[in-house]
Amino acid sequence: MTESLLQARGIFKSFPGVQALADVELTLQPGEVLAVVGENGAGKSTLMKILGGVYTADAGTILLDGQPVEISDVDEAQQLGIVLIHQELNLAENLDVAGNIFLGREPTWGGPVRLLRRSIRADAEPIMRRLGLDCSPSTLVADLSIGRQQLVEIARALSLKSRVIIMDEPTSSLTQRETDRLYRVIRDLKQDGISIVYISHRLKEVEVIADRVTVLRDGRNAGELAKNEINHAAMVRLMVGRELKQFFQRSRTTPASKPVLEMRGVHWEAGKPGVDLTLRAGEIVGLAGLIGAGRTELAETLFGIRPAVVGKITVEAQPLTVRSPADAINAGVYLVPEDRRSQGLVLAESVRNNLSLPSLSRLQTAGLVSAGRERALAERMVNRLNIRTPSIRQIASLLSGGNQQKVVLGKWLGRNPRVLILDEPTRGVDVGAKTEIYALMDELAAQGLAILMISSDLEEILGMSDRVLVMHEGTLAGELARDEVSEEAIMKLATGG
Ligand SMILES: Nc1ncnc2c1ncn2[C@@H]1O[C@H](COP(=O)(O)OP(=O)(O)OP(=O)(O)O)[C@@H](O)[C@H]1O
Ligand SMILES: [Mg+2]
Repeated sequence: MTESLLQARGIFKSFPGVQALADVELTLQPGEVLAVVGENGAGKSTLMKILGGVYTADAGTILLDGQPVEISDVDEAQQLGIVLIHQELNLAENLDVAGNIFLGREPTWGGPVRLLRRSIRADAEPIMRRLGLDCSPSTLVADLSIGRQQLVEIARALSLKSRVIIMDEPTSSLTQRETDRLYRVIRDLKQDGISIVYISHRLKEVEVIADRVTVLRDGRNAGELAKNEINHAAMVRLMVGRELKQFFQRSRTTPASKPVLEMRGVHWEAGKPGVDLTLRAGEIVGLAGLIGAGRTELAETLFGIRPAVVGKITVEAQPLTVRSPADAINAGVYLVPEDRRSQGLVLAESVRNNLSLPSLSRLQTAGLVSAGRERALAERMVNRLNIRTPSIRQIASLLSGGNQQKVVLGKWLGRNPRVLILDEPTRGVDVGAKTEIYALMDELAAQGLAILMISSDLEEILGMSDRVLVMHEGTLAGELARDEVSEEAIMKLATGG
């Protein structure tokens, strides 16, 4: 066996009330793709942040080429050749794509700034092309979809001359096509002897790309799988310590009945063909499409974030004008947004406050919010969704990524929605929690809710949808009934075929 490139030994890390890592080991060989899997809150990101210089371990040693190293900050990690692509995007929104890729490393320049910008853009282009990031290097990051922002993060890591690239959920907002392209990039990097640590909750990806899998559970090593041992069931067993039966949970008992929400000729941009859409009580409708196809825009239009410029929306036959989310909420239409950190959560507030926020008016008696009822509601949601937090008083930003997603979902369940729009509901959510969310969706549909589920995860679309709508270039490209749905059929419509 070749000498390990990177080794972590006996790593401990605690946060107030949480032992995030206890005596964790990790070894990385040159030119290998090591997948790290584990449930939400298992400690994956924390371990990676330690390797990437974001956090310092309470105890433990890190060896590079067999030599102990101190990694006290991000710059030091980068100098050692370790770069971390964050799970939660870490970009300067007010800078353009090229500026982000080379942030902090602009060449010293005596000439005019205009020429400097041009040179950075020229350097950015080949990296962007390699990743299929097909926008201009001078596009503002704030104007990009989440998926594209994720590609900018990856481009930034590629532009650094690294020996170890840690990807924490790199594909969580990428489509299948972009994911495939990333696989190719990863294989190239391997050829160059670069090692990749790959974190993903999409176990199928792990089966495709990983040379070895290491599993964390509750902040400890739970086991390892060699290449020929990697399969879905083996990973799940190590992650959750038990077998998971029945992953997708669509019981499909309730035949879709009366229309709850109808859109006729609706569009958020003038001059585009309008969207017609009907959601019926009791059904789960999948909304598929490539990144940038307009799925999130459609959801935002329904929720009043983005006003419709043409068309008509009715909810239970009543015309609805949505000028703001308040209008949508009053009509019982709720959105669980894609970007939970900026839209779904009040990060600085507690789990309890986040969960009870939309229900405050119902928790009041004589104008006063009952602390007891607020607490009870939050406790109920934490149990129902199995949210891993030391207490309901924990600040939301300190939860692991997947647990934050559950809080966003839990927020709306305290109310009684009629229509629930879920934009990438299981992004970054572990297998166990996915199963819980699917079961919950099934239950809600059975109670008569109409669910519109936007997802880039084709497996999820296939597993959960009663029918599938596919978007392409800002409008609906087609609809597939349950018995017509297949990956090929979706991709064909999504690519304009
Ligand atoms: N800065 C912090 N302050 C307090 N607690 C934290 C902090 N960062 C992480 N934690 C806690 O440490 C534990 C491990 O979190 P971590 O983010 O490493 O999990 P993860 O395996 O990456 O999960 P996910 O799959 O949801 O991203 C969790 O209980 C989390 O709430
Ligand atoms: Mg994480």
